[in-house]
Order: sequence, then structure tokens, then C-alpha cells
Amino acid sequence: MSAKTRYFCNVCGHITSRWLGRCAGCGEWNTYIEEVVSRGTVKRNNEAGGGNRPLPVTEVEPVEGERCSTGMAELDRVLGGGLVPGSLVLLGGDPGIGKSTLLLQVAGLVGATGKKVLYVSGEESTRQIRLRADRLEISCPKLFAYTETDLQIIEEQVGLVDPSLLVIDSIQTMCGPDMASAAGSVSQVRECTARLMRLAKERSLSIFVIGHVTKEGMIAGPRVMEHMVDVVLYFEGERNQSLRILRGVKNRFGSTNEIGIYEMSGCGLREVVNPSSFFLDEHAGRDVAGAVVVPVIEGTRPLLVEIQSLVCPTSFGVPRRMTAGVDHNRTALIIAVLEKRLGLMMGNCDAYVNVVGGVKIDEPAADLGVAAALASSFRERVIDSKTAVMGELGLTGELRPVTALDKRIREAARLGFKRCIVPHQKNIPDDVFNIKILEAKTLVDAFDHIFI
Ligand code: TYD
Ligand code: MG
Repeated sequence: MSAKTRYFCNVCGHITSRWLGRCAGCGEWNTYIEEVVSRGTVKRNNEAGGGNRPLPVTEVEPVEGERCSTGMAELDRVLGGGLVPGSLVLLGGDPGIGKSTLLLQVAGLVGATGKKVLYVSGEESTRQIRLRADRLEISCPKLFAYTETDLQIIEEQVGLVDPSLLVIDSIQTMCGPDMASAAGSVSQVRECTARLMRLAKERSLSIFVIGHVTKEGMIAGPRVMEHMVDVVLYFEGERNQSLRILRGVKNRFGSTNEIGIYEMSGCGLREVVNPSSFFLDEHAGRDVAGAVVVPVIEGTRPLLVEIQSLVCPTSFGVPRRMTAGVDHNRTALIIAVLEKRLGLMMGNCDAYVNVVGGVKIDEPAADLGVAAALASSFRERVIDSKTAVMGELGLTGELRPVTALDKRIREAARLGFKRCIVPHQKNIPDDVFNIKILEAKTLVDAFDHIFI
């Protein structure tokens, strides 16, 4: 029979036999791509009599071995306490952000513990891998480098080398032998992911797969890839800054609200052990108007970040509002509250808000920080650099409770802050002595404490 084609939705992976303008699955327009699908016979997952039948869960063989450490505390935490044997982990991120570097470092660290690691690259030659390994000071005979794009050959090599960890550098370069469409296409990516998943489960082999992110911000190939794998991690950051954040988006074996913080250096990625002091490096001892420190919670960890603001008279008719790291609409709302409740008329001022270090804050507990930074710049009044502020702002100017207050206060105290302004709420800790806790019911109260 001649080759058959199908139409795949680029976004959600929906399949039709005819081209459609609008996806029946996700409703996006113009997303179908035609691809050749081979008519290979459907493989049975198990040979006849292979013994696959429903079992009482108590009789199922438990996973051998515990989670194993990747040698990087930050990555272990994002994975939920280490790597589960037989799991398939997808690492997504923009090109050049450091995915290959991260996984080669992990491969080196795991290899150094005496386990065999196979690093397969479809993008770089073994010499290039060697070059990078030298740069990262990895010299480990248990780490095998291999350049190949044919998944069947890779599977054979896995059988020969028998590694405990397999790294596939970019799923987009891989192809199966009986697939007619090009590498990187939707059906190839899907098929290859499915094969890797089978390989992981059959051999109890942990596999890291790198996936490039398209311009639209999704992992190239359909979103279905995310549904197939066990864990999805994103590696984020600004390319011209050294900070990198590893974020869990999906995790079948743990929570997804942990982040790992790294710094890209001349010889690879370094874990940032004390992120708060990393972000506050430049803040220390500086008394300028428009800057304030806010404790935010990233995952389960508190993190102190500096919010900066600049308010100046506008030279055009319409004032500009620009934000980086905080929500634009939320900032507009805070400006409105400042105007109405405190009479700070910013109607003919441009307002810029920025979070230092490229961190993105998406919790309302930073509202008071944004308000204080704006007011500080508008009034040209300095906020004491040893003061941390937190609280959600209501439209009537009231301060609402924040979550994990205790953790935020302790982190501020640990870093030597002298005062913190908190909303009036329950469970304010009474055993933190080296920091003064000032409660405020409204924005006006809070500003009385902040601008002394
Ligand atoms: P890379 O891991 O190749 O990115 P990806 O696989 O996500 O495309 O990282 C490439 C960038 O990292 C490149 O711009 C150079 C930089 N880099 C360092 O700054 N220090 C290092 O030690 C290494 C290996 C790379
Ligand atoms: Mg790479």
C-alpha cells in the first residue's frame, strides 16, 4: 500500500485524515501539518504468553532501589528527592540556555559514582562532547559519549553498554527506522518519545531527554510529548545574564513547585546555595529611593528579592507603565490604589518596575513591595535597606494576609534584616528575636512604618 499521510495539529497533537483550518482538538487556527505515517504492523507490547495480566497491587514487583541522587542537590530537589529508576525526564528550554551543559555535568557526576552513563548526542560530535567535558573538568571513564540519531541503533548500544543513566541530546534530532517523516516532525517526536518510554520501563533505566522550545514557548513538537513523559523540567533564564532557573512543570513522582537556581560560569553551571544573598548582593548598604526588599516564596523556599521602581514625569501625553518580573495589570491596580488611598497622583508620570536578577514574581504577597517601591521613587524618600516588606493589597487599601509568613520572616532575619513590615494576621511567629516585626492593617499603616 502506498504511503499514507495524516494531518497533525502542531499544538495539541490532534490527528485527522483531512486538512482543517481550525483544530478540532484545541481550537487553534492553521496548525495542521501533513505528515507521512508508515503503515507498520502494530507491535504487541508483550509477546504472547508474556504473563502480562492484571495483578493485585501488592503482588507487583516493587521498583528496585531507591531514588538515586544526581549529584546536584538543586536538581534532586526539583525531581522530588532524586531520580526514580526507570523514569523519563524531559528537559526543555531555549537554545543556548545550557541544557546540554547541565546534563553533561549530571552525566559526569553520576559517572563519578561508578555507574555507567551513556550520553547520546544527535547534534554534536563526540569530539565536541569531549571538548565540553574538558571545559567542565569531567574526566570519567564510566561516561560514554556517542553520536547517533537512529533510535534503533541507540537501543542496541544501550543493550551493549548497559548504562544506568541515558541522556538523549535533543529529541528533535532522533528518528526511528520505520518512520517516513523527517526528524523533528510531530510524528517522529511522538514515536521516539514512546520508544524511549518503553526502553526506560523495560530496563528500569533513567533517561533524560532534551527538547528545544519553539518561539511560541512550547516544547517543539506537540504538547502530547509532555503528556507522555514522567517529568517535565524547564530551564529558564535570560541568555545575557548568568542566572538560570530549573523549574518542574510536571512530576509523576513529586511536587512541581520546586525550583533549582543555577549560575552559568566559565566552567559550567554552579548551584546557587544561598539564593537570597545572591539576589541581594548589590542591595547591601545602598540607600537609594525606589528600591525595597521583598521575601517571596519560590516552591517551598523563601527568597529575598529586590524590587526597583522609577517614577518620573512623562514627556508624552500617555504615561508609560512598564514592568519586568511583576504582573503589568497588578502594577496598574497598585498605582490606582496609591492614587486613591494615599493621594499619590501618578497620572502624568511614567512608572517602571523591575525585579533585580531576572526573577519573576507571581504572588500577591509582593504587592506591598511594589507599592512601597513606587511611592519611594515618587516621593524621593529612601526606604531603609535593612527593611523587608510583604503583604497583599486590597482595592480598599487594606493589607491581606500572606502565606508562609513564618518562613519569610525567618529568611529576612537570617540575612540580617532589622525590620519587617507584615500584614495584621494570625500566626505571626513570636520566637524570632533579631528582627523587629511591625504589623499593619492598611497600606497607610504600612507606609507609616516604612517611611519613618
Ligand atoms: P548549551 O548547554 O550548549 O545550551 P543548550 O544545549 O541549551 O543549547 O550552552 C551553551 C551556552 O553556555 C553557550 O552560550 C556558552 C555557555 N557556557 C558557559 O558559559 N560556560 C560553560 O562552561 C559552558 C560549557 C557553556
Ligand atoms: Mg545543546
